[in-house]
Amino acid sequence: MKKKLMDLYKTLPLVPPDAGLREVAETMLNNKRNLIFVGKESEEPQGYITCMSVLRELINRGDRAKVTAGDIAVSIETNNIIELTKDMDTVVNLLCKRMGLPLFASENDRVTGMVSPEEVIGKLAKLHKEERQKRVNVEQIIDNMFNILPLGIALVTKDGEIKRANKLAKEIMKENLTSSDDMKAIIRNNYQKIFVSGGESYYRFFVTGGDLQDEEAMIIFVDATAEYNLVKRLENAREEAETALAIMLPDHRIEMRLKSIVEYMDEYDDETGKIKITGVIKNGVYKHVINILKLVADAFKQGLMELPGMDKNTIVSATVLHDIAKVQPTLKVGDLVNPKEVFEQGYLHAFRGASIAKGMYNVKDNVYYLIKYHHHDEKELPNDFPDFLLPMFRFFRLIDGLSAGITRRGSNVKMKVNDTRICVAEKSNFPLYNRRVEIDLYSGEYISERL
Ligand SMILES: [Fe+2]
Ligand SMILES: [Fe+2]
Repeated sequence: MKKKLMDLYKTLPLVPPDAGLREVAETMLNNKRNLIFVGKESEEPQGYITCMSVLRELINRGDRAKVTAGDIAVSIETNNIIELTKDMDTVVNLLCKRMGLPLFASENDRVTGMVSPEEVIGKLAKLHKEERQKRVNVEQIIDNMFNILPLGIALVTKDGEIKRANKLAKEIMKENLTSSDDMKAIIRNNYQKIFVSGGESYYRFFVTGGDLQDEEAMIIFVDATAEYNLVKRLENAREEAETALAIMLPDHRIEMRLKSIVEYMDEYDDETGKIKITGVIKNGVYKHVINILKLVADAFKQGLMELPGMDKNTIVSATVLHDIAKVQPTLKVGDLVNPKEVFEQGYLHAFRGASIAKGMYNVKDNVYYLIKYHHHDEKELPNDFPDFLLPMFRFFRLIDGLSAGITRRGSNVKMKVNDTRICVAEKSNFPLYNRRVEIDLYSGEYISERL
């Protein structure tokens, strides 16, 4: 740690106090110094002379004047001296404060030279260059690291300008974002989208530092390809299952008819007692039938069709044809309507459907009865309704209702068959409809409670 200033310091020659101006000038020239000390050997210098003061004396008095170094020496003040052991920051501070005046350096309590401003500037420039190189190297390392990470990282301003981004983030943004408005929407978290890159990789994003007071925000793109592909595979599997079920439909005209009937999503309006249309489900009744068939398949898998009184073919036929004669009003999203006025009562399409099923498709009586009374409560059934059909009637009414929830409210239905009893849990985004149902197909015992 000692002698930190050695590189920035230069020793100065000494002339005796009685040396003339010529000797002083020669000493300066011989030693290539603009400043020299005045004093006796092995003693502390009594002062210093600069090149400028020599010139001044020569001009004012001429070279024959009897002027000695001691006459023109300027004394060295103690606050103009710095120890060679001081650090660079102290030296620079002192140099700045002294505004061009010489700063002398002492070693072992003796002044032997001066700090060279040129050397200090050179040293500072070198340090600056080294620091800059270090920063460039660190940034390079960070860039390389960010480019290796399976993350896209971008630093953007509130105005949507990209300040910095790694390779992956640049690619994703180039392929997906067409304007700075997109970027602003992302920062405000108003942008719901999965980004695609290279045609086969999918990314979701997160924003950090998007608060109003922050000037910049960081967007992190995370690879969601595996998750996305899994959802896609499930979607494909679902479509395949639905296609397989659709093949069970006996007639192209039936398929076309079912697909032509819409279903509506709605919500109850407290103030008016009416319902507000919130969505139109294209192919609604077709989807409803498919969803019933799925529930039938689930019950079949759980062994329900082994139960005396249950018959798979009867239920499938009733499912396919039960709503074939349904008619729906033409409504649009936002319409506020009284359902009793605009929707036809259910039993009417049930009766018409049963008649068409019997007359055109020659269905058996059991199918006919299930279709005809699928909008009747059990206690409303006519006296001639065969008792042996009640288990299937109860089951069909149950799955018809469950499918309506699945189709119109996106409900999630879990059904558990236990001999003659069926337990159902239905959940959706509409908590009002969340319920647990338990029914005994033989006794008709029915329990329904809100979840
Ligand atoms: Fe119906
Ligand atoms: Fe139905």
